[in-house]
Amino acid sequence: MTQALQTWRIDAPGQTLVLASDGGVPGALYWGAPLPAGADLAACAAATERDVTGGMIDRLPDLSLCPEAGNSFQGQAGLVAYRDGAALYPRFKLSEADGVRFVCEDAETGLTLTFQFAVEGGVIAASTSLIAKEEITLHHLAAPVLPGPQMGAEILHFSGRWVGEFQMERSPWCAGIVMRDARTGRSGHEHPPIAYFPEAGATNTQGQVFAMHYGWSGGHVMYAEELPDGRRQIQWGHATGTQRAGRRFETGKLYFAVSETGLNGCAVAFQRHLRDEVVTWPHPERPRPVHYNCWEAVYFDHNVDVLKEIADRAAALGAERFVLDDGWFGKRDDDTSSLGDWDIDPRKWPDGLTPLIDHAQALGMVFGLWFEPEMVNLDSDLARAHPEWILGPADQIEGRQQRVLDLANEEVRAHLFGKISALLESHDIDYIKWDHNRLLPVADAAQADGIYALLGALRAAFPHVEIESCSSGGGRIDAGILQHTQRVWLSDSNDARERLRIQHDGALMLPAAIAGSHVGPRHCHTSGRVHDIHFRAWVAAQRHMGFEMDPRELTEEEAAVLTRVTAWWKANRDWRMEADILRLDAADPSVIAELQLARDKTRFVMFAGKAETGRQSVPRPLRLTALEPDAHYEIELINRDEAHHLSRRALPIKDGPLTLSGQFLMQHGLILPWSFPDQMWVIEGKRV
Ligand code: DGJ
Repeated sequence: MTQALQTWRIDAPGQTLVLASDGGVPGALYWGAPLPAGADLAACAAATERDVTGGMIDRLPDLSLCPEAGNSFQGQAGLVAYRDGAALYPRFKLSEADGVRFVCEDAETGLTLTFQFAVEGGVIAASTSLIAKEEITLHHLAAPVLPGPQMGAEILHFSGRWVGEFQMERSPWCAGIVMRDARTGRSGHEHPPIAYFPEAGATNTQGQVFAMHYGWSGGHVMYAEELPDGRRQIQWGHATGTQRAGRRFETGKLYFAVSETGLNGCAVAFQRHLRDEVVTWPHPERPRPVHYNCWEAVYFDHNVDVLKEIADRAAALGAERFVLDDGWFGKRDDDTSSLGDWDIDPRKWPDGLTPLIDHAQALGMVFGLWFEPEMVNLDSDLARAHPEWILGPADQIEGRQQRVLDLANEEVRAHLFGKISALLESHDIDYIKWDHNRLLPVADAAQADGIYALLGALRAAFPHVEIESCSSGGGRIDAGILQHTQRVWLSDSNDARERLRIQHDGALMLPAAIAGSHVGPRHCHTSGRVHDIHFRAWVAAQRHMGFEMDPRELTEEEAAVLTRVTAWWKANRDWRMEADILRLDAADPSVIAELQLARDKTRFVMFAGKAETGRQSVPRPLRLTALEPDAHYEIELINRDEAHHLSRRALPIKDGPLTLSGQFLMQHGLILPWSFPDQMWVIEGKRV
């Protein structure tokens, strides 16, 4: 017998979620743009009832927060579990509800499901937990399930690879399931846990868009399913088969946003959420420091005098943080040995790291150090002492000659905590670059829980130390890891052209303050391309700027350009590290452009990068976005000195500032000078 209908609404900026239950698991009957205050939710519930016809059972089974196979739901169920080898088909009853927390129980299977919702800035966060009276094996548990947009034509999801992160995939909504299952044991280059669901016709800047992000670093599953009756559901959970048998389970937090201003509305909600709600900043009062990382300068070849000279030059260019990368510990002369032996190598560092730290500090830089704590080489004292701490079979396929430590084991975590904290206690270390360079031999959610526990303990003991999440570049970028870290190494690609694209697509979740971007060597080590210093500098200046080349390779002119762009970055970082990144719709597909808009909307900077030669002879107008139509803006092309002589006309924009209305800039757009590919135009705008 069904009970009286109960309804609840959750409102966040830009969205309303309406939930309803007649005694069973609540379901999201509306997820979309904000409903008016006082909307009659019972009327909404009545209006969402659907008909049935021939060939169907007599009522549509509920598409609830956890669709139940036991209640005849014929699509992907929200819970798939076994006990003693037999599938469980619970039929939950709602037992407690306060509008943000919903508890449902099934007496027969002894299972309790709890759904938790919270508004965090412009996004809603939701998670599901499951408690079993007796041990079960969990195959799949969905975070609260939401309806997919009926007017959506496609699903934008992401793939990627080493030095090629955040590649956009487009799949049509169609009968059946579009499924992503990330079995690599980390959020991964291959499967960034984020997807956008635009309605037909939506672009970067206009139209209705829904977006979701699963904040979990151990690999996720996503199902976007169209049912035979036309309804659509979207489910997210831990990757299939990654959970050990047990009695308590919890999904990651699912974050979701709705936009009526194209992809940008959701992108900005996610950017702000990560920066303002998820990350805990060790030094909120300190501006983001310009970074120097020595990896591509010296690799494993550490020599204190060379590194001091490099530090001198980096500081002269404007660096404020010096990071010593891989190679300082054990006998680490290449990547075949020593991971696990976190003791300073006396062959390379006879007087320890302090002389270099002191030198960097005397130059006004803070010091950072690289670790890869979760990993071990078989050729290491640690592996020889504790082979039982290594995950997976002894004859497993290695990755970068290394193996993974079992972080679910408390002893392993305690050992790593001891080694890392000893270094942090005895040295003035302000920053850790925390790397993770191989896929797990067996994907396992307990491993991700273990990493969070270790990072959490270190953060509690050393709250002033900032941590960067690196995983062969961008292999572990998600809100789960960012609860314990503050920066991501977006990609090992320092190729400015590749970076331009990766940063653009990465902005669908990442704000500038969190996304590291470094000026690489003239001759790029990962693509073989040669890029001019202007282009390299401006691309790095789009995000949290740093350098990663050997500064001794710079000519005087290159050093001067880099010093100038770095000074510009510093002069603007206070407002830019808080700004919203808005992707522009470029009429010319060779242009990748974005507008970074100050939170008070009084100023912006637009970056227009030319990623290839254009189809037409001269640039098309580039439309700006999110300005006030009636306001006027002073627009200045700040790097007009970079115009090539083949840009032959004396355009007014090459001459100095122009003043134009927001409406003109957004409707007609700005025409920029002709340029070669691999060039960036940088335009500042100020409301007058
Ligand atoms: C992979 C990282 O992504 C690089 O930046 C560098 O830290 C190397 N590992 C060091 O081994």
